[in-house]
This record gives sequence, C-alpha cells and structure tokens, in this order.
Amino acid sequence: MRVGILTGGGDCPGLNPAIRGATLRLIRDGHTPIGVLQGWKGLIEGLTVPLTEERVDEIIREGGTILGTSRTNPFKNPADVQRLLENIEDFNFGAIIAIGGEDTLGVARRLYTEHGVRVVGVPKTMDNDLGGTDFTFGFDSAVSVAVEAMDRLRDTAKSHARIIVLEVMGRHAGWVALYAGIGGGADWILIPEVPVDLNAMCHYLKEVYYGGKRYGLVVVSEGVELPFAGSDEPVHTDEFGHKVLKERAVGSRVARYIEEMTGIETRDAVIGHIQRGGPPTVFDRVLATRLGLKAAELVSTGQFGMMVALRGVEIVAVPLEEALRAPKLVPYELYEEARQIFQRVALQPQRSGAS
Ligand code: F6P
Repeated sequence: MRVGILTGGGDCPGLNPAIRGATLRLIRDGHTPIGVLQGWKGLIEGLTVPLTEERVDEIIREGGTILGTSRTNPFKNPADVQRLLENIEDFNFGAIIAIGGEDTLGVARRLYTEHGVRVVGVPKTMDNDLGGTDFTFGFDSAVSVAVEAMDRLRDTAKSHARIIVLEVMGRHAGWVALYAGIGGGADWILIPEVPVDLNAMCHYLKEVYYGGKRYGLVVVSEGVELPFAGSDEPVHTDEFGHKVLKERAVGSRVARYIEEMTGIETRDAVIGHIQRGGPPTVFDRVLATRLGLKAAELVSTGQFGMMVALRGVEIVAVPLEEALRAPKLVPYELYEEARQIFQRVALQPQRSGAS
C-alpha cells in the first residue's frame, strides 16, 4: 500500500524521529511510504517526496521536519477539500499518517468521519496540551531549552541583583511554564489555568529578595490572562483561528508591573521559537520513534480513525474523536504541588524579612 506521511502545525523536535519510525516500519511491512510536503497544503497541491531507509536513517537527531509544515486548514475552503481528496486518489494513497497537534489531527478526524479517508494520527506539540496521551513529543525538548534559559538567567539576575521574568510558549496550557519553573527553580510561576494574583506575587518576590536572596526568577506562560489586559492584545490569527499570543508580550508587561510594585529592577526575556528548534532530547526521540512505529502498525492492521498515544510506558491506540474531545490542561493540584516549592518562604515565616 502507498502511505502518505505528513507533518502539520507548528514544528517541534521529534517530528523527524516519528517520520523515521513510521517509514521504517511501513517498509518492513511491505508498504511504500511517501512524504507529503508542508502538511495539509501538500496534499491539496500534490507535493510529495519519496521516503526511503537511506533518507530517514540519520534524521533521528535532527530538529524541525524534513517534510516541512504549514498551518493550512483545508476545511476553510470546500474546493481545497475536494482537491485534497482527488490527490489522495491520484497518488493512490491507501492511508495517511498525519503527525500534528489538535488542528492537524482535527482535520484528520474530519477527513475520516466525513469523507472516509483512512487516517492514523500521531500526536506532537511542544505545548503538551493534547488529550488522550500522557505526553506529546516536542514538550520535553522545549522544556529543556527553557530550563537552560532559566539557568543562564539566574547567573545574570544574581550578578545584577535583579528580578528576571522568562516568557515561554504553551498557548492556553501552562505545561511548559510549570515544568520550566519547577526544573529551573523559579520563585513564581504564572500559568493560564490558574488566575494570576500579581499582588501576592509581588509581595512574595519582595520577601524573597529582601530576605537575603537578592534576585528573583519568574516564569510566565504566553497565554496568561493579566488583570490589566489592554491595547496590546494580538491582532493576528492563524487559519485555525488561534491568536498569535506572542504579540501580547505578557513577559514584559509582568516585568514592568513587578518593577513598579516592588521597586526592584526587573528585566524580561522571551525565548519564543528557540524552544521549538534544535535536536530532540532522548525522551522525545524514543517517544516519537515508538509513536511512529505504532502508527505504521495501525496502518498494517487496518485500524483507522485512531491516534497513537502514550499511556504510562505503553504505546496504545485511542480514537481520534476521544483524543480531541478536550485539551489537556494543567490540573490545579499539580500547580498547588509546585507552589510548595516556589512559595516556600511564605510557608516558612521565619525566613521572611520583607522591607
Ligand atoms: O502550538 C505550538 C506553538 O509553539 C505555541 O506554543 C505558540 O503559541 C504557537 O505555536 C506559535 O505559532 P507560530 O509558530 O505560528 O508563531
């Protein structure tokens, strides 16, 4: 069978290992894997490339995606859906493996339920916000970059006796901020799932600072709602209707607020797309490879409309419908657990010495 493989949505480390895993297993099972370029756009425009063992052999360590990606939504235009379906026939694709987040997999689900296209989904996203799976690849690599940034910011914050606010990506889920904050030893973490209390934060930062630490680190997720939201709300949206959250500049707004409220010199840093580049971590390489292998297995065994997923240490298949029902957000209990670390001075009053 000829099987199309595509990567859609924002890139992240792990896409290439997933392509590699799927390709190698498909070949092993006697199929012909074909790369579709630039996500759903490539299927609308008929852009393909052969995938061979030689082509994928060394891509285990490469960030990005050898197939390219796009945020193209074919369902925005019925003519595009028609062209896409015609191309599936023209290329004689017996199945499509779609590697993506909620948008790409949402298109896969509709193609399956509304048009009978034989799809298998592979979850990826640095945001880790996809339901049905414990983790998505891309997340561990992104968080590792964010923690490295925290380590570097600590050095300079300490040297200058400043507070530094790190803004990280994650859209409307706080996974990246929470893990970067815990892993990087932040003094406060702001995530979209938990209403922000800027006064409590500023009070605490002053306690930490004047209690002897003399610097502070804050992590803020780009999707956090600030009580003083204003004219700097995003103006751009993508084809799936998502706002370009980077335009909100929450990091610099939070930093300005902290400086005003505490009188402590404060800076901010935004690592943005740096979180999405570079080689995948070992965790992401292994997870992506296993998910790719499983996706090919589902093709071989004729299990379509499914998404491969990580549950504990097992790779399983879940219906796309189920996985896409709701985004996976940070549970409040997990934030509370982290708060024991980043709000420890307040929990131990003997250390407090706010001026
Ligand atoms: O969904 C992944 C993500 O990196 C989000 O964290 C971020 O808000 C968005 O993509 C950025 O998208 P783009 O690469 O289109 O600017």
